[in-house]
Amino acid sequence: MRRILFGLMVLAFLLPQAKADEGMWIPMLLKKYNIEQMQEMGFKLTAEDIYSVNEASLKDAVVIFGGGCTGELISDKGLLITNHHCGYSKIQYHSSVEHDYLTNGFWAMSQEEELVNPGLTVTFLKRMEDVTEQVMHGVTDEMSELDQSKLIQKNISAIKKDAVKDTHYQAVLKPFFNGNQYFLFINEVFKDVRLVGAPPSAIGKFGGDTDNWMWPRHTGDFSMFRIYADKNNQPAEYSKDNVPYQPQKHFSVSMKGVEEGDFTMVFGYPGSTYEYVPSYHLKMLTETVNPKLIDVRTEKLNILNRYQAADPKVRIQYAAKNARISNSWKRWIGENRGLEILDAFAKKQVYEKSFNQWATADESRAEIYGNLLSNYKKLYEEYTPYRLAKDYILEISYRNGIEIASLANKLSPLATLYYSAKDSGIEADKEKISSLKEQIKSDVELFFKDYYQPIDKEISVKLLAMYLANIPEEFHPDIYSKIDKKFKGDINKYVENLFNKSIFDNKESVLTFVDEFSEKSLSKLEKDPAYELYNSFMNLYNDKVSVKDKAMQLELNKLNKAYMSAQMAFESDKVFYPDANFTLRVAYGKVASYKARDAVRYEYYTTLDGIMEKDNPDIYDYRVPEKLKELHRNKDFGKYEVNGTVPVCFIATNHTTGGNSGSPVLNAEGQLIGVNFDRAWEGVMSDLMFNPDQCRNISLDIRYVLFLIDKFAGAGYLLDEMTIVE
Ligand code: ARG
Ligand code: GLU
Repeated sequence: MRRILFGLMVLAFLLPQAKADEGMWIPMLLKKYNIEQMQEMGFKLTAEDIYSVNEASLKDAVVIFGGGCTGELISDKGLLITNHHCGYSKIQYHSSVEHDYLTNGFWAMSQEEELVNPGLTVTFLKRMEDVTEQVMHGVTDEMSELDQSKLIQKNISAIKKDAVKDTHYQAVLKPFFNGNQYFLFINEVFKDVRLVGAPPSAIGKFGGDTDNWMWPRHTGDFSMFRIYADKNNQPAEYSKDNVPYQPQKHFSVSMKGVEEGDFTMVFGYPGSTYEYVPSYHLKMLTETVNPKLIDVRTEKLNILNRYQAADPKVRIQYAAKNARISNSWKRWIGENRGLEILDAFAKKQVYEKSFNQWATADESRAEIYGNLLSNYKKLYEEYTPYRLAKDYILEISYRNGIEIASLANKLSPLATLYYSAKDSGIEADKEKISSLKEQIKSDVELFFKDYYQPIDKEISVKLLAMYLANIPEEFHPDIYSKIDKKFKGDINKYVENLFNKSIFDNKESVLTFVDEFSEKSLSKLEKDPAYELYNSFMNLYNDKVSVKDKAMQLELNKLNKAYMSAQMAFESDKVFYPDANFTLRVAYGKVASYKARDAVRYEYYTTLDGIMEKDNPDIYDYRVPEKLKELHRNKDFGKYEVNGTVPVCFIATNHTTGGNSGSPVLNAEGQLIGVNFDRAWEGVMSDLMFNPDQCRNISLDIRYVLFLIDKFAGAGYLLDEMTIVE
């Protein structure tokens, strides 16, 4: 026994083995680094079953849904499941006070009833490839930073172009390990994706922002779509002649459920993580950036919530905006808390100390790595105010900030066309102009569908005042001197005037202005106060922030690349996973309860009984639909019953982040047991530091999905096209 144990220990020491739980692994490299451990943990399939170029594999059933979520195929007729919050803006797009699909849910009872979603795409990965050598071709240490990066960009363009020549595929090429490695991805994009079904928000968003980022959770966070293709099963723009896409692979759905300790795997598109940053980065976030951004969004949310509660139309109009603002706001709060409890800063410092000892113990190492951390320290001191100013400007002009200013900016491309025509003395291209005008007009229509001016006015006043109070004077755009001069510093008066004088406060006037736009309109546009406001912030950004920011970014990239490879040399027997970068990854772990805090331990699953416990007609987030109550009362659970109730959500130790929403959660056989949608509060700092004791991803139990489709929605015909394993 001893000898065997000893033998195993030696083996474990020799083989590069990944750490359990933590990590978002590259599908193509599972065979090399992970598969043995996965199988030890219970996984029954092979690495080729997950990712293969020549044979259909599980990867062929996973897609990027829209711009920032994951989805998966669950039938051979292109049926796809993702989260409710991922389909949310589409559900909202089809909703009105008369057809309120957000409130009531939507179920197509046949393919004819499915709803078309202009602009929505899903993306399949065909194959990936390590192209580090080709990307670095010709790059030498002697070259300047700028020349290196120019050559790298040139190589990247050439590789991408070559890779998809004569095909309808798209190429994506991304750096890994902070630019120490590069991978090429060949994608196929489908453009006709129709809404099949969504539960009411009282199920799909049950618990709302109160429960968001929290466990125990009872959200039925799913929606369903169908991918359509042309007659040859190829991607095509929407056409009524398109037919349901036949995927190479779809997931079987398992009704067997999960138990504590079971193997689970999440296969999807995590967006970004920062696991290898120095302690100074944590300091910047926790002391400066997060607190300031939390404040800005608290104010935005206060305003939105008040207006939304008062008017059902406004509630729908601002539903997706509110969710978007609130989601990161709450995550930043959790992240700060989690990092503090983990003592993450101190942990990083301890690590950095031993790193430095190693780095300076050897002369040749000292030469390359000796100053890394002191250089970081200097750079972060300089960088922090810029990062804050940049984020604050984004909060004003892009991320649900002053809406009238961002509307005005929609005319910028049109203005640019006329200006360059004027400069070159050649008349502007008529065709280009008319198609641009059409595009802008449809954007304007969409804008006003979800616009309520009193909110925008109040937010404008708030944001302009907060910027003034929180951002140093060197970053104040010139609009503030105008406010001082013309309005005696009174931001209220300025905003009043902004909305009175701008043409952008009214849909018809904007549409007419766009329609009749010509060279003569340029001066009117320039004088418009909303356009002026937008440009005032943009000019400040371009003149004072962007150049410096880019230069520091370049410097930071250089340090990051060096520090990454240094860390890999420092811990040479550890297998590293690259930070998330919105490429396809595998996270594996096990179903697990956890200790949340002193004397509080959370079970690993929730049930329908818990939904009834939370039911409270006085709290908007906790109103349970009557139909669901009735099913519960009558114990009408059908075959989805487990121990007298229906399972709803479960947690596991999979390392996930934003972008993993909608990802398939698979069991040891590679069958679908859940849909990933969130992380638990105690562990949301995992983007910066993972704690296996407390980091948990939250999944919707697929049996709750089946129960809802069958018993609640009466759309059982959808189950017939799935491959259900009972
Ligand atoms: N926290 C989850 C994620 O990051 C769910 C967000 C949507 N839900 C919400 N209440 N805002 O996307
Ligand atoms: N809800 C997140 C998303 O939209 C996933 C949760 C997380 O960040 O882990 O991708």
